[in-house]
Amino acid sequence: MDLDYMRWVLWLITPVIIVLLLPLIIMILLYGSALFLTIHKHRHRLYEVLESRDVWEGARCALASFWDAWGWLWHGYELEGLEKIPDRGSAMLVYYHGAIPVDFYYMAAKIILHKRRNMKVIGDRFLFKVPGWKLLMEVFNVIPGSQDSCVELLNQGELMGVSPGGVREAMFSDENYTILWGRRSGFAKVALRANAPVYPVFTMNVRETFRYLHIGFFKSLLKKFYDMYKLPLLPPYGNFPVYIKTFIGDPVPYNSDTSAEVLASEVSVIDVSIS
Ligand SMILES: *[C@@H]1O[C@H](CO)[C@@H](O)[C@H](O)[C@H]1NC(C)=O
Repeated sequence: MDLDYMRWVLWLITPVIIVLLLPLIIMILLYGSALFLTIHKHRHRLYEVLESRDVWEGARCALASFWDAWGWLWHGYELEGLEKIPDRGSAMLVYYHGAIPVDFYYMAAKIILHKRRNMKVIGDRFLFKVPGWKLLMEVFNVIPGSQDSCVELLNQGELMGVSPGGVREAMFSDENYTILWGRRSGFAKVALRANAPVYPVFTMNVRETFRYLHIGFFKSLLKKFYDMYKLPLLPPYGNFPVYIKTFIGDPVPYNSDTSAEVLASEVSVIDVSIS
């Protein structure tokens, strides 16, 4: 009896579902076309790099175009302050880590496309254990990065992206965009040793697109678990199409007498105030 009823309901709503889904196909086609055209807009860059020597340069640029187009389509993504980043020479971008750092992907895409710079990105250890991502990490220069190797890279004039809060900040920061750097000042030590300019980076609304579901008491429990095992166990939700905009701040002034702790806290204060 119940089964019959279910069948009847299914029979009743099937046309409704179909009628609602069909326009979606057209929407997907329309958005797909828009995406294709946006990528095509960057074709001269693609052709240029396809003839260059680095075999991965073309792939990197093509993917950057794709992510750039997607960011524009889904979030109306904008980046302010790109011109502040030097065309060559060392620099460190220090950013607040959203639940999923999509803002960083879009910014990296714009840096590849407009600055033609190959940023080195310091990634959390767990990234290197995700199955199937090895090549992705390699081509986009995501590295585990010890302090010494980072100083070395900056001394060679590389551009570097760092999130001091990392996955911990991703999971346990909140709707107030609380910065969770703790006493982490490694990035400041590196910048001081390499005498590299430090640019604070913050993205408006990044936490309105992806979030973690936290329930009061469990949050502190999960945090303890994370601090012990460094495993991001919580699945995020969202990818809401909200408008996000990244701001690159002015380099934080410091001199050789500045301590790493002071520099770290100054960068974090600026990151808060940009927000
Ligand atoms: C965020 O800030 C508001 C206003 O200061 C406060 O009421 C709220 O508790 C804060 N949320 C968290 C999770 O700290």
